[in-house]
Amino acid sequence: MHRLLLLLLLGAGFCGVATAFSNGTSPASLQAPLYGIFDDRPDGCPPCPRCFDCHYEEFKCLQYGNCSSTNGKCACPPGFGGEDCAEPLCGALADGKNRSPREGDKCDCKDGWEGVNCNVCTENRACDALMPLGTGGVCYKQGVVVHENFQMCNVTNKAILDQIDPRTAEVTFSCNDDSRTCNFQFWVNEKESFYCALDTCQWSVQDTDLKNVTKYECENIKCSCVPGRFLCGEDGSVDIGEFLEESIAGPASLIQQHTYAGSSRDGSRFEEPAMNDLISQIFGDEYIALACRSGECLYESEVPGYTRPIKEINSPLIASIIAGCALLVIAIVLISWYFARRAAYKKWGAIRLGEGMEDDAARLMVDHKPMALQFEDVSYNLKGKQILTGISGIAQPGQIMAIMGASGAGKSTFLDILARKNKRGHVMGSMFINGEKALDNEYRNVVGYVDQEDTLMPTLTVHETILTSALLRLPADMGLLVKQQRAIEVMQQLGIYHIKDQMIGSEEGKGRGISGGEKRRVGIACELVTSPSILFLDEPTSGLDAYNAFNVVECLVTLAKTYNRTVIFTIHQPRSNIVALFDQLILLAKGRTVYSGPFSTCQAYFDSIATHVRQASTSQTIS
Ligand SMILES: *[C@@H]1O[C@H](CO)[C@@H](O)[C@H](O)[C@H]1NC(C)=O
Ligand SMILES: *[C@@H]1O[C@H](CO)[C@@H](O)[C@H](O)[C@H]1NC(C)=O
Ligand SMILES: *[C@@H]1O[C@H](CO)[C@@H](O)[C@H](O)[C@H]1NC(C)=O
Ligand SMILES: *[C@@H]1O[C@H](CO)[C@@H](O)[C@H](O)[C@H]1NC(C)=O
Repeated sequence: MHRLLLLLLLGAGFCGVATAFSNGTSPASLQAPLYGIFDDRPDGCPPCPRCFDCHYEEFKCLQYGNCSSTNGKCACPPGFGGEDCAEPLCGALADGKNRSPREGDKCDCKDGWEGVNCNVCTENRACDALMPLGTGGVCYKQGVVVHENFQMCNVTNKAILDQIDPRTAEVTFSCNDDSRTCNFQFWVNEKESFYCALDTCQWSVQDTDLKNVTKYECENIKCSCVPGRFLCGEDGSVDIGEFLEESIAGPASLIQQHTYAGSSRDGSRFEEPAMNDLISQIFGDEYIALACRSGECLYESEVPGYTRPIKEINSPLIASIIAGCALLVIAIVLISWYFARRAAYKKWGAIRLGEGMEDDAARLMVDHKPMALQFEDVSYNLKGKQILTGISGIAQPGQIMAIMGASGAGKSTFLDILARKNKRGHVMGSMFINGEKALDNEYRNVVGYVDQEDTLMPTLTVHETILTSALLRLPADMGLLVKQQRAIEVMQQLGIYHIKDQMIGSEEGKGRGISGGEKRRVGIACELVTSPSILFLDEPTSGLDAYNAFNVVECLVTLAKTYNRTVIFTIHQPRSNIVALFDQLILLAKGRTVYSGPFSTCQAYFDSIATHVRQASTSQTIS
């Protein structure tokens, strides 16, 4: 009954409003006559208005922004600002926190950005500013959500456009992959009328010979009016606020269809049962029809369907060399040595509960110093026995260096020496960081070491494990929020955010934990919280199946390339798809170098000596 009344009202309102002139009453001016409770000003002075604090009922965060428990400010979604998130922000999404609220009626977006609030990229160049290294960005426009995408849509229902002419109607829509949520805003003449939050969302792409369809489907949706705007009580006319809050519940979907032959349903449509009812009763259309453009800034390697260029390799030859070396190998007694984790930070200051995370070293991951590690003539002697002899090489930031060789070739010992773990024997040779010698203490502050064993607590969740590592290893004078933020960033970088609440689990224990490959990534995440410039890993793929092994190495490649880290690891008998990812290769046999240099030239090198090697191994087999 109530709804019918509303509909009548709305129908009438629409026609009345269509000719009226818009006088955008902002929510701020509606709130102006709210006064503080403690008013001890002299008689005659008007009372002070109360300052904005979203804890009070009279203030509200629009766009369903969260209210910060510490400072009473609203946490606005990207593209919205002002105290209550009511103002669209201009400039460019890439400007992050430095965007200014809109002045006037329209945003003047920076080059490469569009949309009412400049959230949608249009060119690859515009995305560079969002990349940690400032280059290599891609503006991905296919509409599949990778992390968080933004869409700018024109409403195309003719009946609606005729009604509101000469105004325009637009919709902004964005989705976030981590939280599986979307949000929706309806704008008339670039003024926001109402907004919605959608959750429990899924997206899918269907690409056939006839058509491609991208679907966003969400189970729940809630909507609210911006008071005083078109459809929401502008000039005392129609107000669908109550209808939105009471009737709109979900499920809701945004479907984008493109048929190659062309069809009347091409383009996008937004559907929700109650909303569709409303539209069909007033305008006779089935749904809100839209024409959308989508944009998300990504690294090239993150674009769906991207395959890393494969380097040419001749794996049988390398395998035969390694196998050949294996025949000659002398078993080496490895020293098992596990110290408690290094105490990297010795500052025991008062524990601070940080208020804002903008300052501080919040952007540690990006602010680190890229470091090249060069080592010359490294040798190791244990009790008169020569274990490593004259190994040289260089690992550059942004590269991954693999140390290969048969078991017992000295790979792990060599890695320990590069990581400057204490060794009982005598180490000779020199090591330089960016061309300079570094003291052990400074060195240990910039490197991370991931062990072969997973020493994780089976009863903690992934998030708890990484947060514990962040709390223990980051400086005491760094704010708590920064540390929490850091743990989350690291999980996102390693692609384990979606399993953050799963228990680590163990093989013996009941109940399934995370997989071996995921455990390895959690181990890497625990090291990464301190943002080391150089990361050492001992056999990161041991005990993993081919699929997980590839994922772990690919994740290291992304880390090196995207965040400019130097990654050095030992690896035993990798598959050819993994080998193709290496930048630098050191091949050891009996503690001596077989090859050290760029992976790309090893093929030529082995070809040039292939005849000698074959001759040598043949004579060996014979003898
Ligand atoms: C808009 O509202 C303001 C203040 O409420 C008023 O002064 C102004 O005359 C109004 N403008 C129009 C065009 O109605
Ligand atoms: C608000 O807080 C909830 C719970 O902490 C979180 O899931 C949600 O993503 C937050 N929303 C925004 C817009 O930050
Ligand atoms: C569908 O395919 C066409 C032609 O390849 C392309 O232009 C369009 O962007 C695609 N749309 C989506 C949503 O993928
Ligand atoms: C929306 O309409 C405006 C003006 O007609 C046009 O410039 C813009 O390209 C349209 N946007 C989309 C996504 O179709």
